[in-house]
Amino acid sequence: MNTKQKEPVVGEVHFKSIPLYWEKEKNGVFLGHVLTSGKPGIYKDMWALAPGGGYPGAFPRGFINRLKKTGWWGNKRLWMFSGSFKDAGGTTVDIKPELGPDLVCNCENLELPDESYDFVCLDPPYSEEESSRLYGVPYVNLVKAVNEAARVCSPGGLVLLLHRIIPSYHPNDTVHFKRLKMIANVGVFKIGGYSNIFALTVWRKQEDLNGWLK
Ligand SMILES: C[S@@+](CC[C@H](N)C(=O)[O-])C[C@H]1O[C@@H](n2cnc3c(N)ncnc32)[C@H](O)[C@@H]1O
Repeated sequence: MNTKQKEPVVGEVHFKSIPLYWEKEKNGVFLGHVLTSGKPGIYKDMWALAPGGGYPGAFPRGFINRLKKTGWWGNKRLWMFSGSFKDAGGTTVDIKPELGPDLVCNCENLELPDESYDFVCLDPPYSEEESSRLYGVPYVNLVKAVNEAARVCSPGGLVLLLHRIIPSYHPNDTVHFKRLKMIANVGVFKIGGYSNIFALTVWRKQEDLNGWLK
């Protein structure tokens, strides 16, 4: 019998009494909030929506309307990991050319200039297993993709991430990511049957690092 203990892959630590969740993944350790309820000034909500269309992982129905109603929209919109989603007034990016995105590229390295969008939404695969089973692609390096979103977001603009992880800190965070100030956490799930619950994390990009401290 193999008595060797398996290394834990997820766990919890506390920083100034805020519980933080950590997950060991291929690219290092990812640290995120388990609960941000203790953090003042962060908008919280729970959206129960109808399942989306046929594409695996498609946005739930009503998701876009809820974003607009909550006031999270922009004039120059970028959709990273766009899948089947289309936005005539925005730019879609996906690694799969057959989906017909405006830009076919790996979201770890966007071929787009700095600070060029005021609304950047990411909907990546939610795990390594789902990335391979549902889309047949290697699991994206989430730290790189979130840093890219922060880079192309203009000051005052929003970055929105739909994932199971709520990123708060990583040693490889760029100066752009450090300028993101979390403004909201929303639990999102699909009504009916067995449904995953996701976290929609919303950040606003500050003018500079001093702006973050205000
Ligand atoms: C959860 S689905 C997005 C679904 C989309 N929100 C919709 O409504 O159809 C994730 C998408 O990410 C794409 N993808 C996976 N890895 C990628 C990468 N490294 N760069 C760009 N796109 C990637 C997949 O092809 C897939 O279409």
